[in-house]
Amino acid sequence: MQANTDAVSVKELVARQKPGFTLDQRFYRDPEIFRKDLEKVVGKSWLYVDHTSEIPNKGDFLLYQIGEESIIVVRGRDGEVRAFFNVCRHRGSHICLKDQGNVRTLTCPYHAWIYDLEGRLIAARGMPEDFDKSEFPLHSCQARVAHGLIFICLARPGDPDVADFDPIASDIDQLTALHRIEDTKIVHREVYPTPANWKLVVDNFRECYHCTPAHPEYTMVNAYVKAHDRDLGSYDPVVKEWEGKTIALGHPVGQNGGNEGDPRQPGGYWRQPIREGFVTLSEDGKPVAPLLGDLQHWDGGETAFTFGALSYAYLCADHLCMFRFTPVSPEHSDVVVTWHVRSDAQEGRDYDLERLKWLWDVTTVEDTKIIIDNQKGVNSSRYEPGPYAPLEAYSHDFTRWYLERLAG
Ligand code: FES
Ligand SMILES: [Fe+2]
Repeated sequence: MQANTDAVSVKELVARQKPGFTLDQRFYRDPEIFRKDLEKVVGKSWLYVDHTSEIPNKGDFLLYQIGEESIIVVRGRDGEVRAFFNVCRHRGSHICLKDQGNVRTLTCPYHAWIYDLEGRLIAARGMPEDFDKSEFPLHSCQARVAHGLIFICLARPGDPDVADFDPIASDIDQLTALHRIEDTKIVHREVYPTPANWKLVVDNFRECYHCTPAHPEYTMVNAYVKAHDRDLGSYDPVVKEWEGKTIALGHPVGQNGGNEGDPRQPGGYWRQPIREGFVTLSEDGKPVAPLLGDLQHWDGGETAFTFGALSYAYLCADHLCMFRFTPVSPEHSDVVVTWHVRSDAQEGRDYDLERLKWLWDVTTVEDTKIIIDNQKGVNSSRYEPGPYAPLEAYSHDFTRWYLERLAG
C-alpha cells in the first residue's frame, strides 16, 4: 500500500523504503521528487552529452536540454570546448534556439546583447555609458572532455557532492586508449522517447534478468546471457580463457561491479568475449566497420562501461555505441543512442548502416517498450515495491545509491 506521503519529508520517505526492493510509486511519478532528483542526484553528476566530432570547428555549438536547463556546448576560438547556461544576463531569454550550428558570437535574439565564445558580454546596445559589461558574462557550466566524450556538470565548481572528473577520465583512458574513440564520428543518432521515469530506464539498463524474455536478438549474440541465466558463475571460465588470449594481444581486460569508484558517481565496466565465432555485436558476428584506432586484431570482445547512472558505452573492435538517458519530466525520459565508427570510414565502402545499427536499435526499441509497460503498471493503485532478483544486483546497487544521494 502507498502511504499518504504528502506531509512526509523526502528523508523520511527514503528511510521507509524497503532494502532490496524497488521504490514506492511516488518515486516514479511525483513532480516534487523529480525536482529533487534533478537537484540532488542528476545535477551533482557528470553527464555525458555528446562527442567532440559533432563540434569540430571554432564556433560550432550544440544544445543539451535537461529538466529546465538548456546548456550551450561550444568550441571556442582557441579550440577549447566550453559550456554555458543558455540564459541571457539581460532579462534571461534563451540565447541559442537551434539544437546545433556554427556562430561567430552568441547573440541574444531578444534585445541583441552579444557574447563571445568564451562567454564574455562584448556588446549591450543602448546601455548607459558607465555600464560594466564585464559584470555580466554568461554563467559557465563545468565541462570536461575525455577521449572525445564531452561531459558537463550542472553543479557549481568545487561542490563537495560532485565527484572529481580525473578518475573518470582515467578509467575511460584505460578502456579506450587503443580504440581511439576520439577519432570516431557519429554515423547515426536515434532518439527513443520513453514515457517513463528516468529511474525505470536506469533500472532496466543495469540488469539482464529481462534479456532472455525480452531480447531474443541480444541473447542470440551475447553468449553470457544464457550462461548467467543458468548460473552466474558459469561464464567465468570462458572469460578467463579469453582474457589469456586477449592479454597476449596487448588489449585491456578486466571487470568490476556496477558501483565502483567514487561513491558520489560510481561507475563500472566489464570486458568479455561476445560469442564463439563473433568478432563484433552484429547479426552474423562478422565485422560491420573497419577496426578502430590502433587495433590490429579482432579480439572477439565487447566492452561495456558506465559513468554514473545516466551514461553508458558499448565498445567493440569496430564500433562504439553511446547511450545517454535524459530525465525530461517525472514520467518522461529520452534515450539517445549514437553509433560511432572510425572517422575515415565511408558508408557503402566501409560500413553498411543497417548492419551496423541492427543490434542496439532492435534492443533499444524492445527496451523502450518494456520500460513504458513498467511505468504503466507502477502507476496502478495495486503497485507495490517488488524484490530485486540476484541477476538485478546492479539495479539494486543503483537504487541504494540513489536513495543515499537523495537523502544526503
Ligand atoms: S534578454 Fe537577452 S538581450 Fe534582452
Ligand atoms: Fe534491455
